Amino acid sequence: MKKCFFLFLFYSFSVQAQTDSTRLQWFNDAKLGIFIHWGMYAVNGTSESWSFHNGTVPYAVYMNQMKGFSAAKFNPKQWAELIVESGAKYAVVTTQHHDGLALWDTKQLTPYPSKTDWNTFFPNQVYPTKKNALWNPEKPLSTIYQTPAAKDLITPLSKAFREAGLKFGTYYSLLDWSHPDYPKFLKETDRYKIADDPARWKRFLNFMHHQISEINTQFSPDLYWFDGDWEHSEAEWNAAKIDSIIHTSNPKAILNGRLHSYGDYSTPEQNMPIVHPEKKSWELCLTSNESWGYQPSDTNYKTTNEVLQIFTECLNMGGNLLLDIGPKADGTIPEEQIKLLKEVGRWTQKHAEAIYGTTAGLPSGHYHGNSTLSQDRKTLYLFVNQIRSNGNSQNTTIDLMLKGLKNQITAAEVLGSNAKVPLKIVGKISWSWVPGTVFLKVPAESLDSEITVIKLTLNSPLDLYEGRGGFH
Ligand code: GLC
Repeated sequence: MKKCFFLFLFYSFSVQAQTDSTRLQWFNDAKLGIFIHWGMYAVNGTSESWSFHNGTVPYAVYMNQMKGFSAAKFNPKQWAELIVESGAKYAVVTTQHHDGLALWDTKQLTPYPSKTDWNTFFPNQVYPTKKNALWNPEKPLSTIYQTPAAKDLITPLSKAFREAGLKFGTYYSLLDWSHPDYPKFLKETDRYKIADDPARWKRFLNFMHHQISEINTQFSPDLYWFDGDWEHSEAEWNAAKIDSIIHTSNPKAILNGRLHSYGDYSTPEQNMPIVHPEKKSWELCLTSNESWGYQPSDTNYKTTNEVLQIFTECLNMGGNLLLDIGPKADGTIPEEQIKLLKEVGRWTQKHAEAIYGTTAGLPSGHYHGNSTLSQDRKTLYLFVNQIRSNGNSQNTTIDLMLKGLKNQITAAEVLGSNAKVPLKIVGKISWSWVPGTVFLKVPAESLDSEITVIKLTLNSPLDLYEGRGGFH
């Protein structure tokens, strides 16, 4: 009996594992996604939500940005074309950031801050009257009712992205610092403690669960990108309920790793992981300058080469890159970001077979650089970050070294060019099974202007020697 029970457990775990890996397949193959942070914060170019939360901008001044959020030149088709051109296979857009402004047609009302709350947080500021109210409390806090954009911005985006063949992801902040029933407001102070007023917390949960349900029904997202889970426990958010709201009608939806244990994949932010992130599937989210939203004063853009180096680091560890852009309040995308996406696109198109659908590359110790492997593990792609030498006649080749490869290399070429890569094997002892060291001589004229990819065809699936050298 006991045995049967364990067999059953084993069976259900393996079925679960199988369905999970099928569900995550498109995500694991996609490799590149574009993150879009768009909201009222683009109006003054201030940091998204954090500026009022941390006290750098008064709350009323922050919320007043709604009056300037026009989306006047918003062209979802152009956004979709640019994202496709970058080589990304999915896009994730902010439906609602921590400031509580919904970009879709939510029906949930956000009550107005009470006078008592207001006086506690802003003792020296006059409580906004009906005339200069922060928002109309009779209508939902959404771009439709509270901004000159006067429309739902998510529906047209979801349509344009899907028509362009992109998977559609929705960023949604669980925490909502504007909602009067949400415990936290400003950094140092809470509105209340859940334990002191559980009914108030329940009201907030109800609001938030209904919003998620709206997003699910209206857009059926391929991916949910939750944020802000750190402010409450899994039980407090009732994450099980969120999971069931989504998966009952949208069983294939993927959840990012910010809903405590319910996440499907890890989401390191800005910094490269050195060891493999906790979950098998993972995605690094990265700003193109230093801000998530549009901030014209932030000119510290990463170069295309830096972004591509980071991208190949992710590929090497079997992960994805979610590269962020921050459109302006009128819906135009900053020039620097357009340029970056186009340059990334030139590179991803040329090297597509070394990127999409690949798996993590060589473990460390075999090659000084990043690499990927084809699904059948019979093609190895080596990334070489050597900028083309400008007319330096001394530098006619780039030498690469590869150690511990038991397979035979049946062809070696520079991807996206016709150049063959001559190779030489040294240190092979005829009677020992320990492989020799491979030297590859990459012709300088075939180098890419950013990162060159060397394609090695192997006679059989990758087989590595991992011993101590010598005759063993
Ligand atoms: C952080 C921030 C948020 C940003 C997000 C993107 O969690 O709270 O402002 O949207 O990272 O990864």
